Amino acid sequence: MRVVRTAEEMRALCRAAKARSGCLGFVPTMGALHAGHLSLVRAARTKSAVVAASIFVNPAQFGPEEDYTRYPRNLERDCGLFENEGVELVFAPEAGEMYREDSASWVIVDGLSDRLCGRSRPGHFRGVATVVAKLFHIVEPDVAFFGQKDAAQVAIIGRMVRDLKFALAIEVCPIVREPDGLALSSRNAYLGPAERKAALVLFRSLERARGLFEGGERNSFELMQAARHEFLVEPAVRLDYFEVVDPDSLEPQPEISKKTLVAVAAYIGCTRLIDNILLEP
Ligand code: PAJ
Repeated sequence: MRVVRTAEEMRALCRAAKARSGCLGFVPTMGALHAGHLSLVRAARTKSAVVAASIFVNPAQFGPEEDYTRYPRNLERDCGLFENEGVELVFAPEAGEMYREDSASWVIVDGLSDRLCGRSRPGHFRGVATVVAKLFHIVEPDVAFFGQKDAAQVAIIGRMVRDLKFALAIEVCPIVREPDGLALSSRNAYLGPAERKAALVLFRSLERARGLFEGGERNSFELMQAARHEFLVEPAVRLDYFEVVDPDSLEPQPEISKKTLVAVAAYIGCTRLIDNILLEP
């Protein structure tokens, strides 16, 4: 496995790997790897001849009050995990390699970027779309793998790929959870034991919505009411949003008459966690 620091070298190595082996799969990450990230690598292994990954804590997707500086970083450990999973190329640039001081170009996916997490994290999805576009230009993958965990990110990257005619396919992989249901996240490491327990309310609220849906409820408002109720008994957790939306446009969906995304975000202390489920009538 090669760990590469510059865009120029990464592009050359990716092109050579593609010419040699065929289909190139790509898994972009911010490191602090867990089983969720590794599930993407495994999916990439089964669907492509060569797997490239990136580890880059992207400053452009963090707000000024957010956890950019304290986001967990451990390149050596992450590279060991990628190597064990059969990743061939790891791109781990410094911030200056991705953003020159006079960088002036951004990718904005209008409308979608202001919904769900984009509403409470202004500029977040501009940062995500921009860095992912840069990574796609550097790696030039045939297939890129993303987790359903970040459902809004999936919608935004999908729209960007379609609108800007990137020549690649996007594969979306299911959410990997702890045995008790908590979705794996690099930010779970911030939680103390009491917060870890309280964090389960996200999963519980989604399960409550799913239960109602399976019992025949199709009115989104009823699902949201019941789910929000779960948060009342967990005062240590501050609900950011609980929404029922179209998975592609992220627009509110009052009736569940087709595939629907039910998404939640909440703060436990300073830690912001997200989770979601898809419902299909
Ligand atoms: P990061 O949070 O490191 O996540 C990298 C990828 O892992 C994303 O596609 C995310 O959806 C997926 N992932 C995270 N937790 C998961 C889980 N529990 N189950 C399945 N997949 C999971 O998402 C980002 O980084 C960044 O925004 C990035 C796309 C790299 C751009 O900077």
